Amino acid sequence: MTPNIKPLIAGNWKMNGLSAQLEEIIAIAQGMSASSAYEALICTPATLMERAAVEAGESGLKIGGQDCHQNASGAHTGDVSAPMIADVGASFVIVGHSERRTDHGENDADVSAKSMAAYEAGLCAIICVGETREEREAGKAMEIVSTQLAGSIPDDATPQNTVIAYEPVWAIGTGLVPSNEDIEAMHAHIRAVVEKRFGGEGALMRILYGGSLKPSNAAEILSINNVDGGLIGGASLKASDFLAICGAVPA
Ligand code: PGA
Repeated sequence: MTPNIKPLIAGNWKMNGLSAQLEEIIAIAQGMSASSAYEALICTPATLMERAAVEAGESGLKIGGQDCHQNASGAHTGDVSAPMIADVGASFVIVGHSERRTDHGENDADVSAKSMAAYEAGLCAIICVGETREEREAGKAMEIVSTQLAGSIPDDATPQNTVIAYEPVWAIGTGLVPSNEDIEAMHAHIRAVVEKRFGGEGALMRILYGGSLKPSNAAEILSINNVDGGLIGGASLKASDFLAICGAVPA
């Protein structure tokens, strides 16, 4: 954790969830405590976003998208724009997830443009970075993440409109997690990079850890210095798991 930063526990449902899955949103919303010391968010597929926002209601649970186009509207078949996400009551959007970078060839410049689109629509962008296994084994993890941060985060970033998510690609969906020391070292590195670039604002940006975060390791990981919450895939699909992770946020 970082003093003076409210942690964010963010779920990423990826390409999962039909209407029946809204039951989990309802259960998570019911499990929110009004005065919680953290913020909770579920990033649903586009098809569920509006209904999820309605079900979340005034519970405090936030709803977000998983990607947005860099343009506000236009001839881009199949894409969803940031104003569309805001329009249905969502307040966050994930950009630059490694699955987007791999499946859709998105690069740092694309991620920066999408982040700008998010800002213009009044959304908070969750900008994802992280190295592959080969890059870590080659001792290049910090260099890779530095390059991604420099290229993916726009100059207009503030602690209000930007959250950084460090997700080692090799830890996503694999059950593998870096050591606490490696997580701490990378988060300290990211903090130093954003403080150098954004000064005091960088000191207040949330830096999430993502990659095989689950109820059994959440308390340990969420208590590491400069880990200001988590981005959770698999373990966000069930309300009981997600709420258990929320419950592990250090007081
Ligand atoms: P995971 O996914 O928790 O299933 O590893 C994390 C993510 O990709 O955001």
